[in-house]
Amino acid sequence: VDGKIEIPVVVNVLYRTEAENISLAQIQSQIDVLNKDFTANNTDFNKVPQMFSGVAANIDITFKLETSIGESGVIRRSTNKTSWGTRDAMKNAKQGGIAPTSPSTTLNIWACKIGGGILGYAQFPGGKAATDGVVIDSKYFGLSGSASAPYNLGRTATHEVGHWMNLRHIWGDSSCGNDFVTDTPVHKTANYSATAPFVSLCLPTHYEMPMNYMDYTDDDLMYMFTDGQKARMTAIFAVGGPRATIGQ
Ligand code: ARG
Ligand code: ZN
Ligand code: CA
Repeated sequence: VDGKIEIPVVVNVLYRTEAENISLAQIQSQIDVLNKDFTANNTDFNKVPQMFSGVAANIDITFKLETSIGESGVIRRSTNKTSWGTRDAMKNAKQGGIAPTSPSTTLNIWACKIGGGILGYAQFPGGKAATDGVVIDSKYFGLSGSASAPYNLGRTATHEVGHWMNLRHIWGDSSCGNDFVTDTPVHKTANYSATAPFVSLCLPTHYEMPMNYMDYTDDDLMYMFTDGQKARMTAIFAVGGPRATIGQ
């Protein structure tokens, strides 16, 4: 792509309760978080430990609601479903969901009750258009409103959009696994509460990076991507890449 990547976003809201029918302000707060986190303008970016400052990245990707669609880029549908699960029913109009809008050009985000303790989930590049996008539980969507601690800083979407842009979990989903990014340290497993780099149990001796968005810590403990993650994300938007038509 030439120049900056700006990603049009449509948010699909499925609600049974008023709390699930999140406001436009709450939706915009999530877009704002994505914009900050993907441009290293998040206020906690200055917490990046010195040992990782050389690889902490400004991804230089921004997001905007596709205001020509629905109500300011938001499509709403009421439901009597108490939860939607993780098998894409929320993306299927026949199952009471909302089909994605122009998934080849637009990032679709669904906000709904997922259930099962799942905060969100994403589809990697290269999957079916009909299910492309990310799903975020309405309780962990954006700031304020229904957002609930410790997942109330919008980082679930930052993490899930990372997957949508081809990032793996930093621990590679196995013990000392591979995330296909060289400048992220090998992690033994998911970290949930680590607040600082610590010596890994994986060899050779090195420090883990629990503050990476692709780990599993609380929202206030994650605040960085790396240059290697940036390379992996931006590659998908290049000519011939699986998301080359986003924004067109
Ligand atoms: N895919 C993860 C889950 O559903 C999301 C983890 C997001 N982490 C966070 N701090 N918001 O459990
Ligand atoms: Zn994940
Ligand atoms: Ca790595």
